[in-house]
Amino acid sequence: MKAITVRDAAAGADGMTIDERPLPHASENDVIVRVHAAGFTPGELSWPATWTDRAGRDRTPTVPGHELAGVVTELGYGTTGLTVGQRVFGLADWTRDGTLAEYVAVEARNLAPLPADVDFVTGASLPISGLTAWQGLFLHGGLQAGQTVLVTGVAGGVGSVVVQLARAAGARVIGTGRAGHRKRAEEAGAHAFADIDRGELDAVGDVDLVFDVLGGEPGARAAALVRPGGTLISIAAPPESERVGIRSVFFVVEPSRTELVDLAARVLGGTLRTFVGDVVTLDEAATAFRAGASKGGGKTIVRVVAD
Ligand SMILES: NC(=O)c1ccc[n+]([C@@H]2O[C@H](COP(=O)([O-])OP(=O)(O)OC[C@H]3O[C@@H](n4cnc5c(N)ncnc54)[C@H](OP(=O)(O)O)[C@@H]3O)[C@@H](O)[C@H]2O)c1
Repeated sequence: MKAITVRDAAAGADGMTIDERPLPHASENDVIVRVHAAGFTPGELSWPATWTDRAGRDRTPTVPGHELAGVVTELGYGTTGLTVGQRVFGLADWTRDGTLAEYVAVEARNLAPLPADVDFVTGASLPISGLTAWQGLFLHGGLQAGQTVLVTGVAGGVGSVVVQLARAAGARVIGTGRAGHRKRAEEAGAHAFADIDRGELDAVGDVDLVFDVLGGEPGARAAALVRPGGTLISIAAPPESERVGIRSVFFVVEPSRTELVDLAARVLGGTLRTFVGDVVTLDEAATAFRAGASKGGGKTIVRVVAD
């Protein structure tokens, strides 16, 4: 099969090539998926899990990408809940070869059915941003209707989904970002936007929950707005200093079929959308990975199988 391959952690994305690789093997509880569309995270080559297996052993050359939408072609021993020919989407394991490939082996429990009316590109754009937003707001944040949420990086993959899920849960949502991010905040449904470069955060006042996707100095400025007894959710890095009197959670997103089913139902029902930017072929994927972001904003998706 064709796959994007990275051989050398030091060379990183500059050493990325498209190669012929052996077809993946379906281990116990795995499925093999013919990847139709895939997503990647620009920073993933800096993650230790990109270079090692679960036991910490070197596994180069590796295939990057962890988000996928595709069709099941094979079931491993003991696999339940999915069938050959089924459309699926989800999150591939961090410590195994990823989704910028024609086929990938994934634990079945990390995947959910992709409804017929949700296209593969949308399916591949949902898992990381959708699960991260869902888990941050509901699992770790315990969001309640009537609360106020402030989200940093509102125009990004995670931030734009945080806005939509929090609003649907009955929260008042304030997005923050640079001036050029205001339009996306409005498209996602934020009740208000604070331009971080124009000091508009200072006028926001206390909030119940800050969902910080940035960390560093802009994250700290947002975190300062959590009311006493409120919650700070961080995903880029743990907060640099702990504030007494608030609950502070840093977490790494986990696969969840139940939550993927919920996210797909929202897309189907028209209450959740993702913002897809460039859609490129597998042959173009290494160049797109090196570019990092889509030219016009939105998430880059690799369309492995053409329409
Ligand atoms: N812990 C976890 O499980 C987890 C899960 C998902 C993501 N993450 C991490 O969370 C971060 C966000 O992910 P994402 O997918 O939402 O990324 P993204 O799509 O690139 O969104 C980030 C947004 O923040 C904006 N931004 C960047 N620096 C800024 C600054 N200094 N001030 C104001 N806005 C700024 C970006 O604007 P421009 O594009 O205009 O620069 C972009 O709109 C990444 O670091 C990612 O690795 C962690």
